[in-house]
Amino acid sequence: MVKAAAGEGLLRAQAEGCKRCPQLVASRSQVVFGSGAVDADLMFVGEAPGATEDREGVPFVGASGKLLDELLTGIAIDRSQVYIANVLKCRPPDNRDPRPDEIANCFDYLERQVEVIAPIVVVTLGNFATKLLRADDTGITEIHGQVEECTVGARTVWLYPVFHPAAALYRRPNLELLRTDFAQLPALIKRGAPEQAPLSSSRGTRREDEEPVVKTAPPESPEPEGTDDDGKPQLDLF
Ligand code: URA
Repeated sequence: MVKAAAGEGLLRAQAEGCKRCPQLVASRSQVVFGSGAVDADLMFVGEAPGATEDREGVPFVGASGKLLDELLTGIAIDRSQVYIANVLKCRPPDNRDPRPDEIANCFDYLERQVEVIAPIVVVTLGNFATKLLRADDTGITEIHGQVEECTVGARTVWLYPVFHPAAALYRRPNLELLRTDFAQLPALIKRGAPEQAPLSSSRGTRREDEEPVVKTAPPESPEPEGTDDDGKPQLDLF
């Protein structure tokens, strides 16, 4: 716990000084690194901070965050028990989608975040996080609710893709799918962490009946999704 807190703090300080993406550096109010329990068993990865998050410096505090809190309450988990991060740590200007170069620039922060938090389960919220961590272009509509073993950096976790909360705000029927997928989380956490892969810094997934394999494809350009807290709808949700 002390080690995780120190590791997370160090990483946070590095990210807060990050200047890898000039456009994001120019437009951000602050870096939104992550929040929650540094020893969490359950970690969420969203897309990028929105307007509210950029203002407050905390991920998922706008409309999507309120729904995330509600979904967690529905499975008797408090937000303070989980760790929440995003693919991008800086808000893209005008709520545009994260660009592939930005995703690539930010990826090692996410890898190292997963390593220091060392969760059992990583829930990817929507297409951007799912495609990035699976290193595969399969969309969230097809893959949501399907658990896979996934190696992120040096940590092997249960990867669990679900719709982004914004997709449920935008299209109400998705809320039922989200609730159904969330209902599986307590049992998934109870499984405990998968066997840890031999040390290698990479990522990739495998079904439970497959031999371990680690994919090393470069970051994809995931599809956009959802609305942001400004209420601006984004296309290609599903
Ligand atoms: N807020 C976040 O922090 N991330 C998202 O993906 C959406 C809203």
